[in-house]
Amino acid sequence: MKLHTTLLTAVLATSLFSAAAFAADAGEAVFKAKCAACHPGGGNIMNKKATIKGIKDAKKIITQVRKGGGGMPAFDGKAISEADAKALADYIMKTFK
Ligand code: HEC
Repeated sequence: MKLHTTLLTAVLATSLFSAAAFAADAGEAVFKAKCAACHPGGGNIMNKKATIKGIKDAKKIITQVRKGGGGMPAFDGKAISEADAKALADYIMKTFK
C-alpha cells in the first residue's frame, strides 16, 4: 500500500511537471515557426520601433497575433490555437524582457 501511494505520487508529479514543460515548449515552438522570421531575438525586421520586448500584457500580444496589421499577418484559431496563443504570449513575456 505504501509503495502504491509512493508510485502514484511519483506518477502524478511527473505528469504535472511534463505538462508545464510542454506548455513552455509549445510557446517556443510556435514562436520559432510563425514569429521568429520577423521578430528575431524579440526585435522587428520590418518596423524597428515595434519590437516585442518588454510587453507585460498577454492580451496585447494575443490581440496583435489575431488581428495583425501594419505589415504583420493575422493568425486565426486554425493557424494558432487558443492554448498555443497563450503559451506563445507567456514565452514572449518571459524571454524578451
Ligand atoms: C511578416 C512579418 C511578421 C510576422 C511573421 C509576425 N510579425 Fe509581429 N509585427 C510585424 C510588424 C511589421 C509589426 C508592427 C505592426 C505595426 O506597426 O502596427 C508587428 C508587431 C507586433 C507586435 C506589437 C509590437 C508593439 O509593441 O507594437 C506584437 C506583440 C507582435 N508583432 C507579435 C508577433 C507574434 C507573436 C508573431 C507570431 C505569431 C508575429 N508577431 C509574427 C511583423 C510580423
